[in-house]
Amino acid sequence: MPDNDLSFDRRTILAAGAAGALLAQAPLSAATPVRRFPAGFRWGASTAGHQIEGNNVNSDLWVMENLSPSPYKERSGDACDSYHRWREDIALLKAIGLNSYRMSIEWARIEPTPGQFSIAELDHYKRIVADLRAAGIDPVITFIHSAAPRWFAQAGGWLNPDSPKLFARYCDKAARALGDGIAYACTINEPQVSLTFRAIPMADAYFKAQDARQLAAHAAAARATGSERFVTTDYPDIEGMTPLLMAGHEQGFAAIKAALPRVPTGVTLNLIDFAPANEGSKVDELRQLAYGRWMDVVRRTGDFVGVQTYSQMRIPGAGARLPEPPPLPMPETSDPRDSGKQPVALRNTVEYAHRQTGKPVFVTENGFQTDNDARRAWYIPRVLAELHEAIASGVPVIGYMHWSLLDNFEWLQGYGPKYGLASVDHQTFKRTLKPSAAVYRGIVRQNAVAAA
Ligand code: FCB
Repeated sequence: MPDNDLSFDRRTILAAGAAGALLAQAPLSAATPVRRFPAGFRWGASTAGHQIEGNNVNSDLWVMENLSPSPYKERSGDACDSYHRWREDIALLKAIGLNSYRMSIEWARIEPTPGQFSIAELDHYKRIVADLRAAGIDPVITFIHSAAPRWFAQAGGWLNPDSPKLFARYCDKAARALGDGIAYACTINEPQVSLTFRAIPMADAYFKAQDARQLAAHAAAARATGSERFVTTDYPDIEGMTPLLMAGHEQGFAAIKAALPRVPTGVTLNLIDFAPANEGSKVDELRQLAYGRWMDVVRRTGDFVGVQTYSQMRIPGAGARLPEPPPLPMPETSDPRDSGKQPVALRNTVEYAHRQTGKPVFVTENGFQTDNDARRAWYIPRVLAELHEAIASGVPVIGYMHWSLLDNFEWLQGYGPKYGLASVDHQTFKRTLKPSAAVYRGIVRQNAVAAA
């Protein structure tokens, strides 16, 4: 085992303090106004297999990443080598004091060719689930997080009429193999992320160029694999894929519940917090386009709704400008890239998702992309204070999974964007906790955050 830095040394603690976040670490005395979270609240971190495991060579995205030219900035390659180093990841979770971990199992490993299920790969994930349990950490398992088997893409991906059935067959096998050790199950990760981005009026020109690039890349992948078509999650026909993704969620849900009736199961949605910039802004219509149809699906099918929010976006309308929100009072110099990351965005989407579905909310992702960890350390107590507001207003919230445990492979953008509570050296794979992890630990330990 490499010498991972799992300790919070003096330097880490001081750096966390310098981030203005000591309030989250100081023991909360009777005199400190606090926001206490419900007993049994699930505190965790979130990852996805393809982003951390490395060498997911039977996946559709591996094909896309290795095209030349490729729409991906770089290849996932070894990623964080979590396929071999998952014990080190569990040690990080323990060091932060988390009681839950959201991770995905990789369909491309479990079913490398159609209908052939790998006992060895299922055993691999079974070992992780058992070790998490032994460490007192509840596994929150996502059945598909973006990457699919290469054969699935060659058969038309989520445009193939058989796709829901194929996904449900895999869910059945995987759920039966993993068993009751799973605490929560997520069917499909962000099946409407493209709907959300396409709903943004300002993004039209960007998507025209992006779609042309993606179509060419998918045609190249079809040629490279000798197939008629090749359809990944990024294929620019989200309208065509949506009914099949919805059926996939419903059939996957049924398969998981048939195998594991006691395991709460739901879909996780990408919810940008759309806010009006002008009077007359058509925010409600935008929400409907981006995720309204999925709220209807969740109302029918799901034990909870997974909320994944990173930002707020102000949508202009025809009328007079509304006042801009004040810039985030971030530590150190301001960074214009942080302007949309208002902590209140999470509260708004959590309340919205509950209002629309009537279901308990599970924050399955929320985080802060930055190279400057002091900003993440600033953000964590503030976003949790906002989440607490939603709880205080009556929303049943199961838990909060911070994205992400590790700096990882951020899809098309490669290894550039940093979201981790721990950094990873890509030569040695050594993990090092950041000061923001100490801030998070302070909150988790007390199951409370100091009132802002
Ligand atoms: C979400 C994805 C997750 C990660 C974060 C930053 O949309 O579900 O895999 O890339 O964004």
